[in-house]
Amino acid sequence: MHKTVLQRMGMKTCMPRPFSTSSRLNYKVAVLGAGGGIGQPLSMLLKTNTKVSELALFDIKGGPGVAADIGHINTSSKVNGFSPDDKGLEKALKGADLVVIPAGVPRKPGMTRDDLFKTNASIVRDLAFAAGETAPNAKYLVVTNPVNSTVPIFKKALARVGVHQPKHLFGVTTLDSVRASRFASQATNGVAETLRIPVVGGHSGATIVPLLSQGGVELTGADRDNLVHRIQFGGDEVVKAKAGAGSATLSMAYAGARMASSVIRALDGESGVEECTFVESPLFKDQGIDYFSSRVTLGKDGVETIHPVGPINEYEEGLLKVALADLKKSIEKGEHFVA
Ligand code: NAI
Repeated sequence: MHKTVLQRMGMKTCMPRPFSTSSRLNYKVAVLGAGGGIGQPLSMLLKTNTKVSELALFDIKGGPGVAADIGHINTSSKVNGFSPDDKGLEKALKGADLVVIPAGVPRKPGMTRDDLFKTNASIVRDLAFAAGETAPNAKYLVVTNPVNSTVPIFKKALARVGVHQPKHLFGVTTLDSVRASRFASQATNGVAETLRIPVVGGHSGATIVPLLSQGGVELTGADRDNLVHRIQFGGDEVVKAKAGAGSATLSMAYAGARMASSVIRALDGESGVEECTFVESPLFKDQGIDYFSSRVTLGKDGVETIHPVGPINEYEEGLLKVALADLKKSIEKGEHFVA
């Protein structure tokens, strides 16, 4: 049966949904950084996800206000807002099945994602400590940049509190897949909704490696180079256009909601759910790289199968080589921060 984009994301449409006896439909999702540019629209999209029964919106500023607003949307889920007062973070995390983390500062023009490390590293580390203490079995989706470093930070912090489970931790790189699909469709007059291009590596500039060949995109020369560059540096277009008012928020909220929905659908027993995501990965461990984004099949316990990169052409091999060198440094930087 043909599914609309909203249906594929697990969101409500006017179409009747088939009744499923196995579906839980009662997942609690906590959003940490819910008052921000990403947090607000992401929380709004999660409010329309029929499998979410409870949304806990935490921010150091504005969590309760966002919750009051989103709480008026006429879907059944409960929405509560929390601030740091009165153990708000602990209350938000308690019983969460999924914790989404877009807390932290975004880029301004001229900044790389790595420039955010100084501020965001400690934010992510402290939220990971709290999450590990209160929601040790949750699945964690790290949005905060630089993802190539914040995921290793999150892991190290969880390990410190003795609760790290590699299958439960995801760096959100979905926006790269979303951009790859959209930009490739524009470059080839293709259909963005169905064009799926695996994006492997990491989530920053040259570490973003779109595998156009696997998506059936047959561009060559400057056309191919321009498309790859646009996918790798698409975030800069938004940072520049927003002129100091932040980075991608709305497209990121869409991508984050898709990733959250995919994880929940898999937890709920749906088979064959797949996303490219930055996880602890065996693929390049022999080169000292412990995290890598590739196609991952999601399951009832988070990561189910990490797929290999698969067949790539010589050009893509070149991109991958550059990505791996960059990635190694960013991962080590994150690991050393907590160590
Ligand atoms: P923003 O500044 O609009 O929002 C961040 C929110 O985090 C603010 O409301 C702030 O009060 C909150 N916050 C700060 N410290 C906190 C803490 N300790 N606990 C809870 N909340 C806290 O920033 P925006 O645009 O929402 O971006 C958030 C992060 O997402 C940035 O690091 C940005 O670089 C990253 N990002 C990631 C993408 C990805 O593909 N993974 C894409 C785009 C942005």
